[in-house]
Amino acid sequence: MYTDLQEKVVVITGASTGLGRAMAIRFGKEKCNVIINYYSHNEEALKVKMEVENAGGKAAVIQGDVSKEEDVKNLVSFAIEQFGGLDIWINNAGIENSVPSHKLPLEDWEKVIKTNLTGAFLGSREAINYFVENNIKGNVINMSSVHEQIPWPTFVHYAASKGGVKLLTETLALEYAPKGIRVNNIGPGAINTPINEEKLADPQKRKDVESMIPLGYIGKPEEIAAVAVWLASTESSYVTGITLFADGGMTKYPAFQAGRG
Ligand code: BGC
Repeated sequence: MYTDLQEKVVVITGASTGLGRAMAIRFGKEKCNVIINYYSHNEEALKVKMEVENAGGKAAVIQGDVSKEEDVKNLVSFAIEQFGGLDIWINNAGIENSVPSHKLPLEDWEKVIKTNLTGAFLGSREAINYFVENNIKGNVINMSSVHEQIPWPTFVHYAASKGGVKLLTETLALEYAPKGIRVNNIGPGAINTPINEEKLADPQKRKDVESMIPLGYIGKPEEIAAVAVWLASTESSYVTGITLFADGGMTKYPAFQAGRG
């Protein structure tokens, strides 16, 4: 438990499923007021609201497209209206799909960049604008990926978006540190969430993925949520501008394990 998180208002984008859902529930356990943003999974989002409340927090649900300026501004107003302010903003909404790069339709490229990168920009901008205007030492957390560092064939749009998120975070961290606003990234590896469901249901593909994880297993969403609450709390008060990889060691060149190379 992080007692300083109690009653804090946290906005989480893409919180109806996966990592967003796990973070919402964990912030609920920390007795936060959680704004659950979703794009298309209304029923799931309402279920998450109940889960947050059962965990001990308060929650409110709102639809919105993170790549649309108006929707993101609306998220800020909704947080203020529901819970009287804003303290923590988590840009979690993200999408991916696999297409050989030489065949990647512009439409797919734009969709992924808009959600993963433009969405993180708009969310960060609106949250920071609120923090600056209200003199709040707020906290922004972006959901990056091991693929801000590891190239990923057939996911060029996704990897490019996460590379962008890395420098977005670092730049904002530097720019707003004088105001006590912290901006950090979480870089998850392969985690058991709906985005990976199909891949992980195939035993061979699952084995392939596991072989790239030094700790030897696919991560649990709760293991990412644990990182998020730490980064949001004052326990990490001296941490800004980093990517905290929570990847079971995936970024540490697992092919070299056991003295190979
Ligand atoms: C992707 C997952 C993938 C993992 C490791 C994440 O960013 O969302 O689909 O399994 O990276 O490659």
